[in-house]
Amino acid sequence: MQRMNRLVLAHVYTATVAVCLGAVFGVLQGLSRAGAIGVPVWFDYYRMLTAHGVLMALVFTTFFITGLSLFVTYRNIDRPGRKLAVGWFGWWLMLIGTVMAAVTILSGNATVLYTFYAPLKASPSFYLGATLLVLGTWVVAFEVFENVFYFRRTTPGTPIPLPVFMAACTFLMWIIATLGVVAEMLLLIPWSFGWTPGVNVMLTRMFFWYFGHPLVYFWIMGAYIIWYTILPTRYGGSIFSDGLSRLTFLMLLLLSTPVGIHHEFMEPGINSKWKLLHMVMTYGVAIPSFLTAFAIFASFEIAAIKKGRRGFVQTVASLPWNDPFFSACAYGMLLFILGGFGGMVNASYSMDALVHNTIWIVGHFHATVGGPAALTFIGATYWLIPRLTGRELWGKGVALWQTRLWFLGMLVMSLSMHYAGLLGAPRRTSEVAYASAAVAQSWEPSMILAAAGGVILFISICCFAAVAVGTLFKNEKTHDQLADFAQPEPGSDATPAALQHLFRWSVVALALAVLAYSGPFIELFHSNAYLAPGMRTW
Ligand code: CU
Repeated sequence: MQRMNRLVLAHVYTATVAVCLGAVFGVLQGLSRAGAIGVPVWFDYYRMLTAHGVLMALVFTTFFITGLSLFVTYRNIDRPGRKLAVGWFGWWLMLIGTVMAAVTILSGNATVLYTFYAPLKASPSFYLGATLLVLGTWVVAFEVFENVFYFRRTTPGTPIPLPVFMAACTFLMWIIATLGVVAEMLLLIPWSFGWTPGVNVMLTRMFFWYFGHPLVYFWIMGAYIIWYTILPTRYGGSIFSDGLSRLTFLMLLLLSTPVGIHHEFMEPGINSKWKLLHMVMTYGVAIPSFLTAFAIFASFEIAAIKKGRRGFVQTVASLPWNDPFFSACAYGMLLFILGGFGGMVNASYSMDALVHNTIWIVGHFHATVGGPAALTFIGATYWLIPRLTGRELWGKGVALWQTRLWFLGMLVMSLSMHYAGLLGAPRRTSEVAYASAAVAQSWEPSMILAAAGGVILFISICCFAAVAVGTLFKNEKTHDQLADFAQPEPGSDATPAALQHLFRWSVVALALAVLAYSGPFIELFHSNAYLAPGMRTW
């Protein structure tokens, strides 16, 4: 067990370092945008924005989810003499890719933001690093699948344990999604080396969003694994329904990919019929999230009823709000309500036109990735560390306040950004004061409030770092803490067989992705688009 714990820890610690580093860049941006700090010479807004986006959205989340998936796989599938070479190879590949990309960004050779939109052209080492990071995740995926096959071989006819089913489902979705980024890299890497005269900008952007939207669901599925299968153990609850949980994940597998063009409503060159198709599919992918909201609250309520509590208020009051892991997840869920409804606005073509290029969008994705995903992962880290290291968590009070501050900071920052966006404040730009033009004065208070939220978030992440370092140095041995997983209620209905066929459903998912993208792909490919030689604007 110790050997496996070390591998999981390597992933979790890498994620921890990434989130702490990313937070430093984040708070500086917020302050600089509010005009609160004069920009020091070393502070290059767009370079730091790129570093923040890549470290948070790509590195922190991905390393945590790969670690979590290995954890649930190793703990649920007993396998004597398990080899870990493949698992470690994946981690090393991911780490080398991350370091390559991060060094290139920080040295000022890849100021292309986290979407790396062409014709902005980074040094090849940025694209190569990002590709290695993705290929490393494929190796981790292979490790998870290989264990699933081992389980099937050795226990034929037994359903795959739910947490492993979810992890494998998440990775099947991820493999389909990352095909898009690999296709994009096949265009960008030769171009960045100067081997091709130019690149079809619109095509690369479409490939990016083919990957970029499901990336969001990769985070969400990671959080759902925790909410469905681990969190109930904190409030004495159970899994509401094994079948519904599997259905949710299969729906996410099917519907996460064929929706990415909702990020491109404002882009030219894509026929509006494809935009309509992706819009309708986007409303489809909201369904598994509604199912989850229902299932999680039902699980809360069943646990409360067992304790003799009745009604909404008593159910909420019965939950363990003083447990850092629980409070992190619960606050993450609350932020997801904000993120989810904002997402419905963005997914509507006509309303997206109003908010698309404004900081509303930044408020939206901070409420989603920064809320349910990041806060759940941080909370789960508090739960994981004692189980992986055998050390008692240092500073439980600090950890609890960390989760509360995060919720408060994210709420203040995200709501101010939403509001400033409605007033027309742009995104992606470092300077929004517009020489004190009247319009800029209207959003100035919101920018200051957003920066205040950013500072609260930064204090929160400092608390997280303090707990991590404190736990390491205090080195207080704990009694064995069980890494237990929630179970369905005894006597609940058996799961229909159709919901067990993970790999068959992934073929359907791939077919849906191909159907949704082949039309726009052919259009963009044959549009005789100008091949952009690329440029450095920095
Ligand atoms: Cu999206």
